[in-house]
Amino acid sequence: MNIIGKSHAKIILMGEHCVVYGKPALAVPISSVNLTAQLTKATSGQTIQCKYFIGDLSQAPADLLGIKRLIQSVLQSFHQQNTPFLLKINSSIPSERGMGSSAATAIAVTRALYQFFQKPLTHAKLLEVSNIEEKITHGNPSGIDTATASSNLPVRFIPGKPIEHLPINLKGDLIIADSGIKGRTDIAVNSVHEKYVHQPKLGKPAIDQLGVLARKAEYNLVHNQPQALGQAMNHAQKELALLGVSTPALDKLIQVARQHGAYGAKLTGSGLGGCVIALAPDNKAKNVAQAFLNQGAVNTYIEHFKTQGGVQ
Ligand code: PMV
Repeated sequence: MNIIGKSHAKIILMGEHCVVYGKPALAVPISSVNLTAQLTKATSGQTIQCKYFIGDLSQAPADLLGIKRLIQSVLQSFHQQNTPFLLKINSSIPSERGMGSSAATAIAVTRALYQFFQKPLTHAKLLEVSNIEEKITHGNPSGIDTATASSNLPVRFIPGKPIEHLPINLKGDLIIADSGIKGRTDIAVNSVHEKYVHQPKLGKPAIDQLGVLARKAEYNLVHNQPQALGQAMNHAQKELALLGVSTPALDKLIQVARQHGAYGAKLTGSGLGGCVIALAPDNKAKNVAQAFLNQGAVNTYIEHFKTQGGVQ
């Protein structure tokens, strides 16, 4: 028996930071950056094999605690605590770059475990089980990462409301550049909060504007308006910079993307590091990716949107 659970990366297209204040965030699945969890029967041991660790599940390091607990919880619910297996996790998703690598791991491992034990898995159950890992790894996750890592459609998230899947109808390529610097979610969220509370004339309008732009972007995404979406991304970047979460290195990457034919570009996720994204016509995507690398990006990814249906 050779079982493979799959998942992919995500990025936040619009709405980072304002989502903390109840506004919408828009995340898109990145199917070209993906992950597999391969589960095979073994004669003894519960072995896990991934980039960070090879060994028995019981010896997994702290970084893998979320996945360990997820696996233990599923084994327990199926009364299979002692079943031997070999779990190989193969990922092309960089960690700590806002691309949802932990959520993608949780989704793929959950899918593999349910197939392995031949149990039916609803989408709601998939999210519930995967969030066992996310709660341990991220404390109080919104759920947007697991929702997007398990979907082939963009996702709109508003705190306290059910997650919505959006039909996509956009012609263009999304180019992602890894700045090589870890994102700093806790520091970035705290510093935006400082501005929101102590400089309300700056912080509040910026957050409100980001919310308006996320709504606009959703319309653009669904109605094939790549130029307007690019403009909304540029505008969002201005507001994020005002909030203090951009950096000179991110600014430079964003600038070169625009100079090389992108409709628009912005940071994605927490900022202070992590990734930037650019939207470009498909015949410009390679130029933009090369310009990112020339400007010091450590890696780039190109996601091609279809004009109809989901993300390829
Ligand atoms: O970098 P990511 O993908 O973890 O996104 C952080 C998004 C924030 O809005 C900055 C924080 C949050 O919890 O929503």
